[in-house]
Amino acid sequence: MANKHIVIACDHAALDLKKKVISHLEGVGHTVTDVGTHTTDSCAYPEYASAACKKIQNGEAELGILICGTGIGMGMAANKHRGIRAAICSDTFSACATRLHNDANVLCFGARVVGEGLAMQLVDAFVNTEYEGGRHQSRVDMLTAIEESEARR
Ligand code: RB5
Repeated sequence: MANKHIVIACDHAALDLKKKVISHLEGVGHTVTDVGTHTTDSCAYPEYASAACKKIQNGEAELGILICGTGIGMGMAANKHRGIRAAICSDTFSACATRLHNDANVLCFGARVVGEGLAMQLVDAFVNTEYEGGRHQSRVDMLTAIEESEARR
């Protein structure tokens, strides 16, 4: 399995879980860039979702992991960014399938939704699965076409 460069971010609701995810990923040889938040002070998840998505857009990271209380705010914010396909998952089947079929490049989950054990399984399923391409590519292209047409409106 190839080691990957992964960007990670959280809000105040998910700081402890994010630290554990970073240790887990680094422990198996991945490179992790943590763009915050770094404290439990109340903060705004869109700010950290944006910081992480920019790293993917710039090519500095291949995949992203965004954790807030539910995963939902991070997912909504991430999917506003060009080229970002963020999936909010709380089961490993979906975390795997969204890489296979959607070429998702960001995984979101909630620290108030999943426990530590499941969080690590979600991360492993997502990071260790490669996009299948083939019949899925035209559908992923359609996502990009929607994004481009919305940008022109
Ligand atoms: C913070 O209380 C909470 O709203 C945030 O972590 C997230 O769940 C938003 O979607």
